[in-house]
Amino acid sequence: MIISISTLKGGVGKSTITQNLAVCLAESGYDVCIVDADTNQSAMQWCEIRERERLADDSIAEIPVFGQTDGAELIKTVKQLNEKFNIILIDGTPSLDKLTSKIILLADLLIIPIVPSVLDVWASVKFLDRYEESQAQKGRKIPAYLLVNQNQNTNLAKEVKEALDSIEIPVLKNSLKNRTAYREAVVKGRGVYEWKDVKAKAEMVTLSNEITKILKKL
Ligand SMILES: Nc1ncnc2c1ncn2[C@@H]1O[C@H](COP(=O)(O)OP(=O)(O)O)[C@@H](O)[C@H]1O
Ligand SMILES: [Mg+2]
Repeated sequence: MIISISTLKGGVGKSTITQNLAVCLAESGYDVCIVDADTNQSAMQWCEIRERERLADDSIAEIPVFGQTDGAELIKTVKQLNEKFNIILIDGTPSLDKLTSKIILLADLLIIPIVPSVLDVWASVKFLDRYEESQAQKGRKIPAYLLVNQNQNTNLAKEVKEALDSIEIPVLKNSLKNRTAYREAVVKGRGVYEWKDVKAKAEMVTLSNEITKILKKL
């Protein structure tokens, strides 16, 4: 099963969501790996730290990360890994080149992180065009969900809700709040599941459960 976490914007939480979801899925018993398709190699660096931390603490689950920023190779790599792992998470790149189309095409499930601002919702339109093209190329629907990240409040502002409603892609019920735990955990090669903020852990587990429910219905 391949989950792509992709959008054209940088800094919206692609890598954070990929890493944290990987940890939750691994803790739920899935064999999980990450394919880092971004040249900034955030997931690769996170994995390096995680491997060092694992030497001192063997309760930390192993999450292999494979770097692949070449489009043709990406398809080969992901297909091979799909034989071996239950779930592959592709950490996307913000560039509008062919790599993004391949990341979308490969997905059994596409998660599009979005920060709750009207400008950001509008900025996703280019990505959504690319998504439509990829579906046309594939000849069938690619299930996709928007995921609201770095939410400041419990409820979305009315204008953000309206902007999201104007996009024909469903929004995941669970969103992630802006919490320092996400920033702290990453520098220790951890997910918030393995961190001290119980609220962050709880919201990640709930999100991960929502996503596994969707996977089971695919
Ligand atoms: N829910 C969140 N709460 C707090 N900080 C976050 C959250 N999600 C992401 N961040 C921070 O925002 C920055 C960008 O996130 P990142 O995952 O690197 O985005 P992307 O991969 O889309 O470029 C990072 O410093 C990350 O730690
Ligand atoms: Mg990233």
